[in-house]
Amino acid sequence: MMEKLHIVTVRNPKDPIAEAYRTLRTNIQFSSFDKKIQSIMLTSSGPGEGKSTTSANLAVVMAETGAKTILVDCDQRKPNLHKIFLTSNESGLSNVLAGKVSFEDAVKQNAVENLDLLTSGIRPPNPAELLGSKKMENFLQQLKEKYEYIILDTPPVVAVTDAQLLSRYVDGCLLVVSSSQVEKEAAVKARDLLTKVGANILGAVLNKLEIKEKGYYGYYYHYYYGNDGSRIRKKKKKRK
Ligand SMILES: Nc1ncnc2c1ncn2[C@@H]1O[C@H](COP(=O)(O)OP(=O)(O)O)[C@@H](O)[C@H]1O
Ligand SMILES: [Mg+2]
Repeated sequence: MMEKLHIVTVRNPKDPIAEAYRTLRTNIQFSSFDKKIQSIMLTSSGPGEGKSTTSANLAVVMAETGAKTILVDCDQRKPNLHKIFLTSNESGLSNVLAGKVSFEDAVKQNAVENLDLLTSGIRPPNPAELLGSKKMENFLQQLKEKYEYIILDTPPVVAVTDAQLLSRYVDGCLLVVSSSQVEKEAAVKARDLLTKVGANILGAVLNKLEIKEKGYYGYYYHYYYGNDGSRIRKKKKKRK
């Protein structure tokens, strides 16, 4: 089952791409000295930039350290994590928050060692209301007692308010930026929307940059930016 997952960090842990996710993990772990970063939300300005892919891989490498980790699909509009983990989405976050299903019944345990998964659940009529609710805030607080890391996949921040609302309840936000699709202004707009509600932006992940040089062909290249815009780490991965 686990071997079938199309998640590079599960399928190919030695791949340079998997290594790049570990660098991201390290950067997050060192991004804050004063405040423990336990819950991390991933968002982006638009769709298809790699939020779900990055969330899944980040959760796997967090769990890999032995830290009990949960990955929560907060994208009620285009849920994807149940597909990535080849599992059902009959009950998940929305059902738990609605009090219809217990957390214990909804959570999928050991999707990967040390990694639990909570899928999105049945789509509620108003996802923003759900994610911005006091119930959601309390739920995240409870998760902090059970898990060392909580990784939250969310919808794009520019289109709907879901991610903006949720950002108030998490320790940090990561902005996934697809280098090939997104205008710089869109990423800046996403950052501004998050900053406006007081979100703690840990940095940005530059995703899907294709590079070609000296006979090597690389398809993953990521930069990590500090929230003041400074480039604090650069990692380049090449593949033959
Ligand atoms: N680093 C990457 N390299 C190659 N393909 C990627 C990468 N990140 C995402 N993708 C692909 O791009 C598509 C959109 O990614 P996804 O994570 O679902 O985006 P989002 O959650 O932001 O909508 C998927 O088909 C995914 O497999
Ligand atoms: Mg997604």
